[in-house]
Amino acid sequence: MLTGILVSSAATAGDLALQPVIGEPLTGLSAAQVARFQIGKVLYSMPIPIEDGLGPILNKSNCGSCHSNPVGGWGAISVVRFGMEKKGVFSLYPGEVQSLAQSLANSSFCAEIVPADATVVKTRLTNSSMAFGLVEAIPDSQLAAHADEFDIDGDGVSGRVHWVMPLEAPPGSPLRAGRFGWKAQVATVLTFSSDASRNEMGFTNRFSPVENPPNGDFARLTVCDDVADPEDTLDAQGFGFVDKVTDFQRFLAAPPQTPRSGMTGEALFNQIGCVKCHSGQFTTSSDVALEDSIRSKVIRPYSDFLLHDVGLLADGISDGNASEAEMRTPTLWGLRRRDPMLHDGSAAGGSFTPRVTLAIAKHGPFGEGAASAAAFNALSGIDKTRVIKFLDSLGRAEFDFDADNIIDILDFFALRTCLAQGTTNPDDDCAIADIDQNGVVNAIDVDMFVAAWDGEVLDCNDNGVADLRDIALGTSQDSNEDGVPDECVACRADLNGDALVNGIDLSIVLANWGGSGAGDTDQSGVVNGIDLATILAAWGACR
Ligand code: HEC
Ligand code: HEC
Repeated sequence: MLTGILVSSAATAGDLALQPVIGEPLTGLSAAQVARFQIGKVLYSMPIPIEDGLGPILNKSNCGSCHSNPVGGWGAISVVRFGMEKKGVFSLYPGEVQSLAQSLANSSFCAEIVPADATVVKTRLTNSSMAFGLVEAIPDSQLAAHADEFDIDGDGVSGRVHWVMPLEAPPGSPLRAGRFGWKAQVATVLTFSSDASRNEMGFTNRFSPVENPPNGDFARLTVCDDVADPEDTLDAQGFGFVDKVTDFQRFLAAPPQTPRSGMTGEALFNQIGCVKCHSGQFTTSSDVALEDSIRSKVIRPYSDFLLHDVGLLADGISDGNASEAEMRTPTLWGLRRRDPMLHDGSAAGGSFTPRVTLAIAKHGPFGEGAASAAAFNALSGIDKTRVIKFLDSLGRAEFDFDADNIIDILDFFALRTCLAQGTTNPDDDCAIADIDQNGVVNAIDVDMFVAAWDGEVLDCNDNGVADLRDIALGTSQDSNEDGVPDECVACRADLNGDALVNGIDLSIVLANWGGSGAGDTDQSGVVNGIDLATILAAWGACR
């Protein structure tokens, strides 16, 4: 059989690289960095055994059980925070050391309960660690430059930095601009990893060495906790679990945005004031201590990472310097796969359009986002659709027409339709295939498609060109539309590779009838009449 496999991928359009698909590592990492990413990714989803220190009270046994969409990303699981409210002021429940509830315990004696008379009981949804090395590398000064704490410009949108101290910072270090967590309560990925290990998993580490006592009861903790703290032991190089999961999160790429720019919906998004908080673009620090893949990069998270008064949406819980009414602007990249949305998960279910419309409406009453939510509501139906279409482009992989995160034959058909259409623009559905955004889907984009293709890149006619390119550009015909050039079909019937289609091939089909594998000429997964017909049609010499 002449089913050649093209080893080197097709030429790409100049410097234009494909954007990593959501969940993939940053481009340009060294082999050693990729290895750290992979090790961290494995540990991130590996349950910690009780004998290694999980618990005594916890919410889950591993990070990935909450951050599952994709691994390191968003999730549908919420955690509970509780405490007391008096005249709008939040305080911890008497005797508690923190507001986060731990819903599981290694034994019922250790279990923490949410007290029935707690006056504040709220849920908080899992958000994601996408591109967190890049987000961490946004200089504090850039975040501060977006802040307008006293609303000097009088536009109703203020926004302020939550200045916090990283757990790993040496004593006396300056405060850093918080950016992680729904209250921007954390400035570095390592701090979040350390905090989440202890608080979500009961896994103490060198930055969070003291176990959470169930309902603040240290006497009960002593009885329940029989693994010495810190439980996160370091390897020979001095790295522990928290360092390794930090590597994974820091090396996660920014979700793609397709098309990369130019949608009318984005212009409207800016015009109605969404951009005041969901600010488009930052450049990461030029600090030489940063990895090449993280240093001096332009990123478009669509968040200012600042605290804003969210009005009726507020959870009434203060956290550090973040008030009861404030929430941090979430990033919007990858929005298309978030279900539910909002910190309390209150925009949930249904399709993307109603879900995102509800999330926008909830910026209203009495919050800083009220004016832009009203402006969205006042848009014509067509313009609303344009804004939503733009929001849907955040996180979309190039060429992924059917939005299943796999570039396969269905996307290839759509690409061919776009090739036939020729010109396109950022609002057009074919923009997904115009990777160099030159207004036309052409051979350059076809090469990029071949590079993005998730299957093997085949060259069955051995002409040194990917079969997909041959078909897309008309060098080969594909009359049965299966992604295989017609000239290869005869050879596919040559099952034993002797350059003849004859009784031997026929007997292979009959011997495997109804099964899969040998005899399955069209790789349909079953040996059937189509394969028989292919053999008979190709009878004789094969090339
Ligand atoms: C029980 C579910 C759960 C587990 C387990 C969990 N997380 Fe989270 N994670 C959350 C929730 C909920 C939030 C939002 C927290 C907040 O701001 O109150 C969050 C937020 C984060 C953030 C900040 C995201 C952002 O957008 O700012 C990071 C980073 C993070 N988690 C890392 C981890 C790591 C690392 C682990 C494992 C050591 C972990 N998480 C385990 C639920 C979980
Ligand atoms: C005043 C600042 C501000 C403005 C203006 C603003 N947002 Fe938001 N946005 C936020 C904050 C803060 C949240 C998180 C609210 C919460 O969950 O409590 C948020 C949440 C969201 C979410 C949900 C994201 C998620 O992770 O669940 C979407 C979608 C969104 N905003 C879109 C928009 C759009 C579209 C506009 C313009 C119509 C807009 N926002 C205007 C601050 C703002």
